[in-house]
Amino acid sequence: MKFDAKALQSRLAGKMIGCRLHFFPTVDSTNRVALRFAREGAPEGTVVLADRQTAGRGRLDRIWQSPPGCNLYISILLRPAIAPAEAPQITLMSGVAVAEMLSLLCPAGVGLKWPNDVLVRGRKICGILTELRIAGRAVEAVVVGIGVNVNMAGADFDPAYRETATSLSQETGQTHSREDLAYLLCERFEQWYETFLREGFAPVREGWLARSEMAGKRVRVHFRDEVQEGVVAGIDHDGALLLADALGAIRRITAGDASIVK
Ligand code: BTN
Repeated sequence: MKFDAKALQSRLAGKMIGCRLHFFPTVDSTNRVALRFAREGAPEGTVVLADRQTAGRGRLDRIWQSPPGCNLYISILLRPAIAPAEAPQITLMSGVAVAEMLSLLCPAGVGLKWPNDVLVRGRKICGILTELRIAGRAVEAVVVGIGVNVNMAGADFDPAYRETATSLSQETGQTHSREDLAYLLCERFEQWYETFLREGFAPVREGWLARSEMAGKRVRVHFRDEVQEGVVAGIDHDGALLLADALGAIRRITAGDASIVK
């Protein structure tokens, strides 16, 4: 179905997230476009949306499958006064906002996997890619790219992900309005972002832990050539994953790709 960007724009009138809305029927990557807008001086809250991406970016140089007419591909431009090392906290905050939005439509089984996945019944429904523009040592802009599988049929997933990914329509048996979802997402996002700016990471950490799929589970984290394994003991005050080894010693993991060991 055609995306009604005009209707979304009028619903977002007066909000900070969505103060500018740029919709593209086809674009290579909404993140790339949002980073360009950031360079050109676009204000905080600028949103870039696309019906289809030809080069959707995932984490760790992966491709994000982005067919037309069914999903949400959205990038949100922020200009927080934070250090680059604090940016992962924005990814976790975005995960909490997406999980809250999805829980409104799909009350059972929405969970979070560190650092950037939103799951339903253990299957990935949303991925988040945060990219920065740095000037000197300061963060000039943060672009949070969010891909949500909304009305994508199981058979349309790349075979490599068919067993591990899902969509909202698969989970609820209904077709969902992407405009409604985009609106709810911007609204939840704005609330969490204001909380983060006002109170810091502590409330985000609580919100994240309340929805974590990982607590007490054995996980393996791959980062470059290293693999770390341990039992999840939580996340630290700055968003790092805390892993307990066999002797109970706690290690902090700040980056990587985590999978739950079955
Ligand atoms: C991941 O799980 O690896 C992150 C996927 C992020 C995909 C979204 S879709 C909208 C935005 N534009 C992109 O090119 N990537 C993000």
